[in-house]
Amino acid sequence: MGQGAKEHWGRGQKCIGSGGKRATKIHFSKDFKYLEIYFLTNLLKKMPSSYIKGIGYYVPETIVTNADLQRHMDTTDEWIQERTGIQERRYAAKHKETTSVLGTNAAKKALTNAGMDANELDLIIFATLSPDYYFPGCGVLLQRQLGITKTEIPALDIRNQCSGFVYGLSVADAFIRSGMYKNILLVGAETHSMGLDFSTRGRNVTVIFGDGAGAVIMSATDEQFRGILASRIHANGEFAEELAMINPGSHGGVHVPDPSVYGYEEAEYGETFISPKMLTDGMLFPNMNGQLVFKNAVVKFPEVIAEVLEAAGLEKTDIDLLVCHQANLRISQFVQKTMGLRDDQVWNNIQRYGNTTAASIPIALAEAVEAGKVKKGDLICLAAFGSGFTWGAALIRW
Ligand code: COA
Repeated sequence: MGQGAKEHWGRGQKCIGSGGKRATKIHFSKDFKYLEIYFLTNLLKKMPSSYIKGIGYYVPETIVTNADLQRHMDTTDEWIQERTGIQERRYAAKHKETTSVLGTNAAKKALTNAGMDANELDLIIFATLSPDYYFPGCGVLLQRQLGITKTEIPALDIRNQCSGFVYGLSVADAFIRSGMYKNILLVGAETHSMGLDFSTRGRNVTVIFGDGAGAVIMSATDEQFRGILASRIHANGEFAEELAMINPGSHGGVHVPDPSVYGYEEAEYGETFISPKMLTDGMLFPNMNGQLVFKNAVVKFPEVIAEVLEAAGLEKTDIDLLVCHQANLRISQFVQKTMGLRDDQVWNNIQRYGNTTAASIPIALAEAVEAGKVKKGDLICLAAFGSGFTWGAALIRW
């Protein structure tokens, strides 16, 4: 049931299957006749819920410490730890590991954990901002690497950066609730290390990011109040360029008053997607307005968590474990404090992996499960914020 649909029921009224405490009110009216018939039909059919049947993660072996980075750029372990909490991160093995390879490794673990074969899947959703190719997306590469050759299941690539996993979860949940698919593989994976600026010019971005992958198998269940209780996703494109990799790209400089700032050149054809100036002036790296990101993140994280709790008719005191996107330890600590949660109610691993964007939530969740921190019946809250800006949250009854 979509967010838009919920508006028709008015504030305080809960969606069916949301896990909320209040009863659903159904008002017959001429205007919403067809909507009501649709909802009632689904009620009678008993809509399935989605739950996480299997989970796994994979991080590359190579550990890169802050001291290692210090050999390439003007930075210090003290600066990095103080501002971000990061001590080390993992980098993919060059010419061996890519985003789709890391994603495949995590997916295999999730399948094993679910006790499933790859050929039982109905859909692949792959979230990343660092795909192997500009196109096609990583979904089809992962499909090939998992040996899914006969079923011809669809592979959907999503581009929502740090919120990619929560966006993917929300999409997978909707597909399962609608009855369209029963078993969905959702992967979040990144290899940032191949596209960062290792000179002092790129230090504010480069020290933050690391490589890794996490995956979940989402499946249908008829068990009431189990699995995804609610999810909400949002975007505000106003600050799209403030955390972005602008080049290479097909923007042609149209989004800014002075296109030359992005290295766009006036060749008759070509030299737009990638120009010699972009190469010589080092314009092929991500850029980030760190303070703007920080200021927005600390507002949007608590806001969307409150929204998802309200949607499920639950309170912040009901949360057993909060797994935030690992953007920056300071942001996660701020959110924890705002929510009034104890240290044992949050899972942070940015200290060891850095920010792995779309992979950070599934890696952290998989680690928490592995460590025995998640028990059946626990209420888990996932929340993310990042480039776009995009953000979202989900509540899961484990
Ligand atoms: N090592 C040493 N110095 C660095 C540095 C590094 N890695 N990166 C930046 N600096 C310097 C800057 O050049 C600047 O120097 P100056 O004062 O001489 O000009 C100084 O540190 C302060 O820079 P500033 O960008 O104002 O620092 P900050 O306190 O905002 O911290 C971030 C920078 C990136 C750590 C912080 O803004 C942040 O965490 N933002 C959120 C980013 C985030 O979460 N991104 C992921 C989004 S999903």
